[in-house]
Amino acid sequence: MEKEKPSLVVLISGGGSNLQAIIDAITNNELDAEIKAVICNQAEASGLDRSAKANIQNHIVDHRLFPDRESFDQAMTEIIDPLNPDLVVLAGFMRILSDDFIDHYQHRLINIHPSLLPKYKGLNTHQLAIDNDDAKHGASVHYVSHELDSGPVVIQAEVPILTTDNADTLAARVLKEEHKIYPMAIKMHTEGRLTFDKDKLNLDNKLLCKPLLWKDGQLHT
Ligand code: GRF
Repeated sequence: MEKEKPSLVVLISGGGSNLQAIIDAITNNELDAEIKAVICNQAEASGLDRSAKANIQNHIVDHRLFPDRESFDQAMTEIIDPLNPDLVVLAGFMRILSDDFIDHYQHRLINIHPSLLPKYKGLNTHQLAIDNDDAKHGASVHYVSHELDSGPVVIQAEVPILTTDNADTLAARVLKEEHKIYPMAIKMHTEGRLTFDKDKLNLDNKLLCKPLLWKDGQLHT
């Protein structure tokens, strides 16, 4: 019998370009994994078309129909758990998750955030980087812990900030790099290269002292 591929469930809220990058990496045999389902909290999100086109089962769980965060998260858990995914992937999922949800998927819940964490948690990261005259900006893939946009960072993509940049042009350049580093980090997870020793993240059985860096089209360790 053929061995089952590592499995993912992807949570989205919007355009789903990171979801598309993961679908493409699987299609191109760069990532040996299967997306078992996509869950979206916005019925009109265009990202849902991407999963439908790739024949992935879509679930809409509208957060507005639930009395509180916990019951919304519980509804997602009821979809996710029977699929028993190796990794739950937040790809532009714009809801804060409850502590129970985060604990339940501890060490198998991953997020991408458009900043060089720990800088600029939360929203408007691109404008903040410009306003602060930063020379560089980027994105981070991290395991999710209780604090917003926190948790061990696996890999960061760095892009220079140009004098001509506004938040939109910068966001577009960062997003392009997000599409490179998210499938890379997921691959490291599904290949079993990323492991935890209590809360410390290891890569290939060695403590990952600082995140891997993707810069100028190359991975630096
Ligand atoms: C990305 O910038 C991601 O880092 C952030 O939200 C954006 C989502 O983009 N969390 P998409 O929906 O994957 O196109």
